[in-house]
Amino acid sequence: MGSHDKVLITAALPYANGNLHVGHIGGSYLPADTYARYCRSVGREVLFICGSDDHGVPATLSARAEGCTPRDVVHRYHDAQERDFKGLGIRFDVYGRTSSPHHAAMSQEFFLSVNRNGFLEKRSTQQLFDAEAGIFLPDRYVRGTCPFCGQQALGDQCENCGKDQDALELIDPRSAITGSVPEVRQTTHWYFRQDRLEDRLKEWLSARDGWRPSVQNFALGMLKQGLKPRAITRDLSWGVPVPLSDDSDAGGKVLYVWFDAPIGYVTFTADLLEQRGLPRESYADWWKNPDVPIYHFLGEDNIVFHALMWPAMLMAEGTYQLPTNVVANCFVNFQFPGKDEEKMSKSRGTAVWIHEYLRDADPDPLRYYLTFIAPEAQRTAFKPDDLMRRNNDELVGTMGNFVHRTLTFVARYFGNAVPEPAVVTAEAEEMAAHLERLPGVVGEELDAFRFKNAVGAVMDLARMGNRFFDYEAPWRQRKEDLGRCGTTLHTCLHIVKALAILGEPFMPFTSEKIMEILGLHPGERRWASAAVPLQPRRSLGIAEPLFRKME
Ligand code: MF3
Ligand code: ZN
Repeated sequence: MGSHDKVLITAALPYANGNLHVGHIGGSYLPADTYARYCRSVGREVLFICGSDDHGVPATLSARAEGCTPRDVVHRYHDAQERDFKGLGIRFDVYGRTSSPHHAAMSQEFFLSVNRNGFLEKRSTQQLFDAEAGIFLPDRYVRGTCPFCGQQALGDQCENCGKDQDALELIDPRSAITGSVPEVRQTTHWYFRQDRLEDRLKEWLSARDGWRPSVQNFALGMLKQGLKPRAITRDLSWGVPVPLSDDSDAGGKVLYVWFDAPIGYVTFTADLLEQRGLPRESYADWWKNPDVPIYHFLGEDNIVFHALMWPAMLMAEGTYQLPTNVVANCFVNFQFPGKDEEKMSKSRGTAVWIHEYLRDADPDPLRYYLTFIAPEAQRTAFKPDDLMRRNNDELVGTMGNFVHRTLTFVARYFGNAVPEPAVVTAEAEEMAAHLERLPGVVGEELDAFRFKNAVGAVMDLARMGNRFFDYEAPWRQRKEDLGRCGTTLHTCLHIVKALAILGEPFMPFTSEKIMEILGLHPGERRWASAAVPLQPRRSLGIAEPLFRKME
């Protein structure tokens, strides 16, 4: 890619009805931010898009429980989540919200185009209605006895026998909201005829290059089972109003949350470009431009939507580009020392909340650890004792120590200015050759979304730095061969610079500190500049500790 290349990066829009925990961050937001930072560093023009997914039934239910409006609920969590992201250095170019008027207009327009192109069909159906709550019940909110195995099941799926359910077939159905016996009522909905796109989806998916096999195979497997027409409207009052007249009795109809949410990526892009003084319509230069790759980052539960339903929507609409890659991670479980791994759960107290973590710890160690345990191919476990150990051994003990001993040595014995590399040595040349290659090596891992390998290569550099320092023993060289001592420290400072630049996508706060001390100006902070040593005689700033020990 050249230097004027544009890249669209999205991270799944979090539902604005809860707080964020480390599983959310490790699964989508952190890898997306890491990739966005890397792309900016190599000079690509990045738009990193996110915002809150404000619609859906859960927000309505929280509002009922709290006696406020859904809008109150989503505003509160939108702000809380945005604070958490900021605190972790997850730097979106825009953080929008799907409850904005612009988003409603954008989604309605999209819906109408899909309809005009013949991919929507109005159907009359029966559905369970909770008269006490006054709402039609989404399948997940109906409880009853499974007609296949006789166990308790929810209206979408039976946990016991695994069969898909039809809520209307459950024996003795009850509303999960009020516990009352629901009535069967007639309603109409618009169905998305994604089944008509099966062949095109299959052809497109099979031809994808560079996708994680788990994602590609999962989507192809779903296709093999066949796609059914899918209802994309709901009888609710909270959501984007359906822009077609409705001759049924039900009253408020809105778009299904999974129909409007991904369109949010586009709405927020338009919001951002408008903030920058461009016309809203210039979103098309990004989303409808075949030269702009589109990367969606998300968790495993979102694969089906981003790899099938959203591409089908885009095909049906007809004027957009399809995703370049759907970068999905598995879930992060939780594990206490000596206990079994379990799912992160609010009720079991096994979720590590971002706002709580940030109250007494720094963001970079968490970013480092979560990248290290990245669930790229399978689920992994967040272990608090492991986070602590890696912080103390690797960040404090290896990287922090190397940077600190280098900077303090230079301050003490070289007047805090970059020493002259007065003597050419094989060891220093070898290190320079390694540093010459490293930006390409780490970049290649990142462009292939192998974040764990990439951060590993950066930490390896810190280890090599320590070994080099120990081997050269500058505290002795200083007395025996001052010229060679200068070469050693010149090389060590080059390593420090490379750690700052190549480590920036992973640990931006720490990198900022190092770059400040080295006095790097913007051009020197670019990715490729990691290969270039610091000019001799430049004076440096005062060293400060980069990491704190965790107890
Ligand atoms: N809100 C969904 C979730 O948290 C993700 C929506 S992603 C989008 O699982 F593409 F629809 F925006
Ligand atoms: Zn069952």
